[in-house]
Amino acid sequence: MEGGLFSAHKPTFLLLLLHIFLLALLPFKAISSPKTQAEALLTWKNTFASAPPSLPSWSLTNLNNLCNWYAIVCDQNSEQVSQIDLSNFNIAATLTHFNFTPFLNLTQFNLSGNYFTGHVPSAIGKLSKLTTLDLGNNFFDQEIPVEIGKLTELKYLSFFNNTLTGVIPSELSNLQKVQFLILGANYNLQTPDWSKFSGMPSLTYLDLSSRLDSEFPEFVSKCLNLTFLDLSENFFTGQIPQQVFTNLSKLEYLNLTNNQFQGPLPSNFPKLKHLHLAQNNFSGAIPEAIGLISGLQRIDLAWNSLEGPIPSSIGQLRELKYLDLRENSLNSLIPSELGLCTSLTYLDLTSNHLEGKIPPSIGQLRELQHLDLRENSLNSSIPSDIGRLSHLISLDLSGNHLSGSIPPTLSNLSNIQILNLSNNNLNGPFPPEICALYMIDLSNNNLTQEIQKAPDDTFVGNSGWCGDARGLTRARNSKKNNNEVIIVVLVPVWGLSVVATTIALILMFHKKTKRVLKKINSAQNFENFESMILQEEVKFTFGEVVKAVDDFHEKYCIGKGGFGRVYKAELLSGQAVAVKRLNTSDSNDIPAINLQSFENEIRTLTNVRHRNIIRLYGFCSRRGCIFLLYEYLERGSLGKALYGVEGVTQLGWATRVKIVHGLSHALSYLHHDCSPPIVHRDVTVNNVLLESDFEARLSDFGTARLISANSSNWTHIVGSFGYMAPELALTMRITDKCDVYSFGVVALEVMMGRHPGDLLESQLSESSQSMKEDNAKLLLKDLLDQRLEAPSNELAKAVVLVMSLALACIRTRPGSRPTMLFVAQKLSAHILPSLPEPFGMLTINKLMGI
Ligand SMILES: *[C@@H]1O[C@H](CO)[C@@H](O)[C@H](O)[C@H]1NC(C)=O
Ligand SMILES: *[C@@H]1O[C@H](CO)[C@@H](O)[C@H](O)[C@H]1NC(C)=O
Ligand SMILES: *[C@@H]1O[C@H](CO)[C@@H](O)[C@H](O)[C@H]1NC(C)=O
Ligand SMILES: *[C@@H]1O[C@H](CO)[C@@H](O)[C@H](O)[C@H]1NC(C)=O
Ligand SMILES: *[C@@H]1O[C@H](CO)[C@@H](O)[C@H](O)[C@H]1NC(C)=O
Ligand SMILES: *[C@@H]1O[C@H](CO)[C@@H](O)[C@H](O)[C@H]1NC(C)=O
Ligand SMILES: *[C@@H]1O[C@H](CO)[C@@H](O)[C@H](O)[C@H]1NC(C)=O
Ligand SMILES: *[C@@H]1O[C@H](CO)[C@@H](O)[C@H](O)[C@H]1NC(C)=O
Ligand SMILES: *[C@@H]1O[C@H](CO)[C@@H](O)[C@H](O)[C@H]1NC(C)=O
Ligand SMILES: *[C@@H]1O[C@H](CO)[C@@H](O)[C@H](O)[C@H]1NC(C)=O
Ligand SMILES: *[C@@H]1O[C@H](CO)[C@@H](O)[C@H](O)[C@H]1NC(C)=O
Repeated sequence: MEGGLFSAHKPTFLLLLLHIFLLALLPFKAISSPKTQAEALLTWKNTFASAPPSLPSWSLTNLNNLCNWYAIVCDQNSEQVSQIDLSNFNIAATLTHFNFTPFLNLTQFNLSGNYFTGHVPSAIGKLSKLTTLDLGNNFFDQEIPVEIGKLTELKYLSFFNNTLTGVIPSELSNLQKVQFLILGANYNLQTPDWSKFSGMPSLTYLDLSSRLDSEFPEFVSKCLNLTFLDLSENFFTGQIPQQVFTNLSKLEYLNLTNNQFQGPLPSNFPKLKHLHLAQNNFSGAIPEAIGLISGLQRIDLAWNSLEGPIPSSIGQLRELKYLDLRENSLNSLIPSELGLCTSLTYLDLTSNHLEGKIPPSIGQLRELQHLDLRENSLNSSIPSDIGRLSHLISLDLSGNHLSGSIPPTLSNLSNIQILNLSNNNLNGPFPPEICALYMIDLSNNNLTQEIQKAPDDTFVGNSGWCGDARGLTRARNSKKNNNEVIIVVLVPVWGLSVVATTIALILMFHKKTKRVLKKINSAQNFENFESMILQEEVKFTFGEVVKAVDDFHEKYCIGKGGFGRVYKAELLSGQAVAVKRLNTSDSNDIPAINLQSFENEIRTLTNVRHRNIIRLYGFCSRRGCIFLLYEYLERGSLGKALYGVEGVTQLGWATRVKIVHGLSHALSYLHHDCSPPIVHRDVTVNNVLLESDFEARLSDFGTARLISANSSNWTHIVGSFGYMAPELALTMRITDKCDVYSFGVVALEVMMGRHPGDLLESQLSESSQSMKEDNAKLLLKDLLDQRLEAPSNELAKAVVLVMSLALACIRTRPGSRPTMLFVAQKLSAHILPSLPEPFGMLTINKLMGI
């Protein structure tokens, strides 16, 4: 019976089993169908806080076309999703709403470079076919799920630059096939017990640069295929056992920068190309064996405690490009074999105890761009062979005991921008042919005067310089000069061969604030002027003005600047006048001839009538005190408007464009409509005043001229730092192109809402490729004042025009800057040029090309 029953039911039972089996399969099949996958992706997309514009293909109407969806790759046979690459899509979302189940066959998942937040779900462990998982450059937080250890097919795993926390799970070492493991730049990860990590035999690339603290992670030495190891920016301590690296014979890149490793340097890496061990506490000598690592290209051992000599074997490193040994305690001589490292472009031995001479063989390093031997105990003379380093950009030999004279061969350094020979015992003349420099510092040597017309106190500390340079004032008390910093700034002047050999100097002196003006006793005395000019139609006297400000009482002071103070005088008539009192400490500082030419200029300026130029009512001088009377504007300076409290709301784009426009007209008038032309010399945001309707009014003429050392083009300080044209530092020749430069700076500042310092620097260092490249990428929209919404339509065009003109104005070569007339005309045009590219995509480089 039983059998019968069994046999009777057998087919039914089998059918039932089959049914159950099919039922079980059905949902499984359904999950994996392209439609299910498409729906899962859509559900996920709907949770994105910002959906990128390039994802319209991800839509309900397109459900059946999954394999053609953007960022999706299908397996050709199964027509299922095998790869998802949403990298760099600016997606703000989480993985919490991603349903992993339909994607069990996924092999590549790339979400790098987005704004993903939240945790990495443990369900990710289901994607057992994954070979690539790149979640780098996001904001994932919380712990790395241990389920990652189930993704045993992984070859590439990156969590680079997230905000993950918790202990790094030792399950990672289950990933026997992983070649790239990148956990760097997650600064809240905690250090695991490394002994739980068995080897990851396939690992070739390991980045653990994440503020971990422990000793050297021992599992690393079992990763025999490792070529790249970055353990920088951790708190690793202790000695590195020498045998650690014996296994890592394939290592090419080692970066242990900024840890606390101690003991002797590791050295046995036959294939190494990059050795970066800076900012540790390695001690002992640099092993002679380093010369055997013949492929070394970069060595950075800076900021350690290394002693002993630089091994002469270093000369065997013919591919070495970069050698940085600064801030150690290396002593003895610089080996002449260093001259054999003919690929070197960068050599920095700063702050060691090296003595002896600078080996002439250094002249063989024909590729060298940076040579820094500062702060050692070198006592030879400067070998003339250094003049053969024709690619040299910066040469710093300061702070040694170098003696002898400066070899004239240095004039062959045609690319040199920075030359610091200060604080040595150099004597003799400074060869006048040496030029094309951005900065020279020769202070604290024993050099003799050779340069014509150099102001004598510019070379303080060089005993020989205090001669009777023609037409110059005597040196100040030598006592005063002790804390003065002497910097000579020179800039290449392309094409201008006439001035190319001119060398000029700027003294950036910290004037003590105690050098105040002489006390003026009373208003009555004040009518007793040495010199006075008043505009004809002016109805008040200087006496009245002085009375109105109560002998220049603090409470009437409305501004202070490098050159003096400004007071507001409210006259009895109700008229308000601005009085500028200049900080020319003693009358000796203003040679009579200077004053004369200044007065001539003031006479011209009192006659200037232009709606963008402030009225200069008059001027007077008395015992060296200089006073200038200007029209008073309630709203104050452009600087105040830009940086003051209410500034931003009032200064919209239209207003800013109007201000720049007005300023261009003022300067164009001075340069092209006045006879003789007037150069302002000190165009800054503080010297542009604003009327109540934000019309710009240029003010503050002649001030810079007044401080100049003589009547010609030579001067200590011209203009304000940060607005000054670079060629001024070299030639001291004031031309209208200096104003053009300053105008460019002001225009940029108005548009950027901050001083464009970085931009100016990057302009100057023409040869600095990295800066150039940075600029190439710099977007206009990111440069503009971020406190305002980006301009659109016609305003965007106007802003672009202003920016491109401003950039042309700050060109290093004065000759390539436009004239103010050109700028003013362009800005007045009724039809604005259309944008070459959508506003949001315009780069600075693009603007420079317009
Ligand atoms: C994974 O792919 C294989 C072969 O392409 C296929 O047979 C299997 O059904 C897929 N599995 C899932 C869950 O999609
Ligand atoms: C992920 O995408 C980024 C950006 O396209 C790319 O740089 C990165 O190499 C990709 N990751 C992998 C593992 O291919
Ligand atoms: C990390 O990502 C942020 C923005 O996502 C970026 O600004 C930063 O430069 C990245 N850091 C590194 C070390 O790449
Ligand atoms: C190590 O690299 C070699 C050659 O690149 C390769 O043949 C070998 O399989 C690798 N070893 C492991 C464990 O991945
Ligand atoms: C070198 O690698 C072998 C094989 O993985 C391992 O047994 C040994 O411990 C390693 N040596 C060191 C010093 O880690
Ligand atoms: C080495 O690591 C430091 C710190 O992370 C980094 O600044 C440096 O660029 C790295 N060096 C190289 C050559 O990548
Ligand atoms: C550097 O190492 C030496 C021993 O070699 C030790 O005495 C010293 O304290 C260490 N310095 C730091 C800052 O760790
Ligand atoms: C330079 O220093 C070395 C060693 O300190 C000394 O022997 C030599 O005499 C010095 N040379 C000069 C010119 O002072
Ligand atoms: C030149 O070197 C000295 C000493 O190393 C340093 O103090 C000075 O600032 C440097 N000069 C310039 C202009 O950087
Ligand atoms: C500069 O170099 C040229 C060519 O190499 C050479 O003839 C000349 O003598 C050098 N000038 C100086 C001052 O050494
Ligand atoms: C400076 O040079 C002069 C001669 O050029 C010499 O007499 C004097 O001793 C030197 N002074 C110092 C401090 O070396």
